[in-house]
Amino acid sequence: MMSDFPQEAEVGPWAKQKLDALERYLDYYTTRLKNQRQWRTIYVDAFAGGGIARVRQNKRVRSEQFDFFEGLLGPQDPEQAQFVLGSPRRSLDLPNPFDSYIFIDADSARIAMLNALKAEYAGTRRITVRRGSAATEIDWIISKRPDPAKHRGVAFLDPFGAHLEWRSVRALADTRVFEVLINFPLDMAINRLIKVDGQIPASWRDQLNAFFPAGWWDHAYSTDPGLLAGLVDEGSILEKRRDARARLLGFYCQSLREAFGHVSQPKLIRNTKGHPLYYLIWAGPHPAGLKGANYVLSMGEKAAS
Ligand SMILES: C[S@@+](CC[C@H](N)C(=O)[O-])C[C@H]1O[C@@H](n2cnc3c(N)ncnc32)[C@H](O)[C@@H]1O
Repeated sequence: MMSDFPQEAEVGPWAKQKLDALERYLDYYTTRLKNQRQWRTIYVDAFAGGGIARVRQNKRVRSEQFDFFEGLLGPQDPEQAQFVLGSPRRSLDLPNPFDSYIFIDADSARIAMLNALKAEYAGTRRITVRRGSAATEIDWIISKRPDPAKHRGVAFLDPFGAHLEWRSVRALADTRVFEVLINFPLDMAINRLIKVDGQIPASWRDQLNAFFPAGWWDHAYSTDPGLLAGLVDEGSILEKRRDARARLLGFYCQSLREAFGHVSQPKLIRNTKGHPLYYLIWAGPHPAGLKGANYVLSMGEKAAS
């Protein structure tokens, strides 16, 4: 049998960096709150995945393994494939667990895995599994009226692409209950959707409009009136800004600061060749959270924004 987890996703080795940072932050958070029993704590994983993922290996390593003591081994045994525990399991296994857990995913196979996880932890963790889009399910959470006098929570927002809607982030901020840890997929998704000539297909533009607060366009593009100054639109030349990437990161962080009150330094996650992939960004209403987030996110590489 190849795997006990036939539906698991495949992730790059860098996913571990993200998950280690999440786990460290959740540990910091739950340890800080463990003696403050006036609050019920909630963990929301809005793009939860299936709870486990196979670590992708490059082709050379996939076909032959190198053991430090044994030298080159034969073809890799599939049983030896490496797995990484995903965000739901890491949150469930914290030494000081949350009082309740909400796991959301849009994919039915991942939901089946999350339900199996729920069964595994039955009687020890209070888990709700919801299939749907993060936007709809966050609306559902907000409809339950989390109360800042009674509740405290962390939402992990970890999309593959530009699937996290700003209105969901804003709604979580407005509760004054939730802190968020966001995967901001700048190089994996956003910067690719923002085409150099500004000719963005309508569906991509809709996605970007939902992903960002209003105003992102002016951080991405400049309009050079050139010789035709005064002939607005028809005569003007649209150009992607050279510093669009940095400006969009700054714009998103500033919007988070305005929504939540505090935002961390973004942590850049790179692939194994050193190319940037995405940023992890924390935002929340409490300075103590900021202090912990900056500490955790500055372990290892710091962002060069
Ligand atoms: C990057 S993976 C999550 C990995 C997981 N957080 C972990 O680290 O273990 C993104 C997940 O989001 C799910 N997804 C994609 N679009 C979604 C949406 N709009 N709403 C909710 N889930 C979505 C995918 O099925 C996938 O499982």
